[in-house]
Amino acid sequence: MKIFVPPMKSQGIKTKLVDWISSNIQNIEYDYWIEPFMGTGVVAFNIRPKKAILCDSNPHLIRFYNAIKYKEISSGMVRKYLTNEGQELLKSNGEYYYEVRKRFNEEGNPLDFLFLSRSCFNGMMRFNRKGGFNVPFCKKPNRFAQALVTKITNQVENIAQIIQQGDYIFKNQDFQDTLKEIMPDDLVYSDPPYIGRHVDYFDSWSEEEEILLRDGLINSGAKFILSTWLSNKYRTNNYIFDIWKECSVASKEHFYHIGGKEINRNAVYEALLSNMDLQNSISNSEMKSRIDLNDSRLTTNTIKYKIPKQLSLSLEEQRRLKKPAL
Ligand SMILES: C[S@@+](CC[C@H](N)C(=O)[O-])C[C@H]1O[C@@H](n2cnc3c(N)ncnc32)[C@H](O)[C@@H]1O
Repeated sequence: MKIFVPPMKSQGIKTKLVDWISSNIQNIEYDYWIEPFMGTGVVAFNIRPKKAILCDSNPHLIRFYNAIKYKEISSGMVRKYLTNEGQELLKSNGEYYYEVRKRFNEEGNPLDFLFLSRSCFNGMMRFNRKGGFNVPFCKKPNRFAQALVTKITNQVENIAQIIQQGDYIFKNQDFQDTLKEIMPDDLVYSDPPYIGRHVDYFDSWSEEEEILLRDGLINSGAKFILSTWLSNKYRTNNYIFDIWKECSVASKEHFYHIGGKEINRNAVYEALLSNMDLQNSISNSEMKSRIDLNDSRLTTNTIKYKIPKQLSLSLEEQRRLKKPAL
């Protein structure tokens, strides 16, 4: 499956899970595809349901996609805007990024949000306690070279077409409001923040919220799939065997490699939890006993990725610092 990448970036983006999720819902009939935590929207935009309700508590994401839906933003406008702003960025040797960031935090223009998302450090999305975008510049003044501008322009055009071809509703609301809208014949993909992991203005998450989410999903009577992490080298996500103990579990392992060399082996096991039987899923209790007995926790094949440049640089740096002094 050729994965379509949306124009927005975020650290929680599930591009790498799209294939897996998609293969699990091929034969399911449903009315609305609902996402209480749409983020960048990469999952919905690849699944391409006929009807979708896509929600998030971050108003900037919703404003961006509504602006495309209602044609306040077109791909032509994006090309022109990024070309002009990219030239300003280059002329200022990067300082202009901080002007755009200030302007965005005052006015919330969706084009400025796109600019920041594509020129900030590591494509992160992070907001401070006052709700201001606070990610620093990626330090590449020539960031918006023509090739990247064309790529982003095409991504916006693709999104516009996907939205026009379906019945897509974007809502800026808390997940508890979205839960109230779910009908039994809908299919829900839920990708909440990880408990206690990110502390961000729009993206903090507690155990109480996880329980409210579970109750809302189960009481809706709809089929649902939830993404979470199963374990990493140091920890297991025990909420799976407590809060989500009624759900089946499918798991995949992700790790990176440079050339033929594997690094960060066992980096992270991802899980899909569901009230349906997913492909290769096992019962919650079986997964728990596999973990207790230290048996394989994999229910599907491992995915290998080429290491991203940024991670490769930081690992090199770590190795360099660990070297004993001569
Ligand atoms: C892990 S990300 C979703 C990523 C998305 N699946 C993707 O691939 O881009 C979690 C999202 O939940 C949103 N969020 C956090 N708390 C929320 C809440 N209480 N209600 C609704 N959305 C919330 C965040 O703004 C963030 O976009």
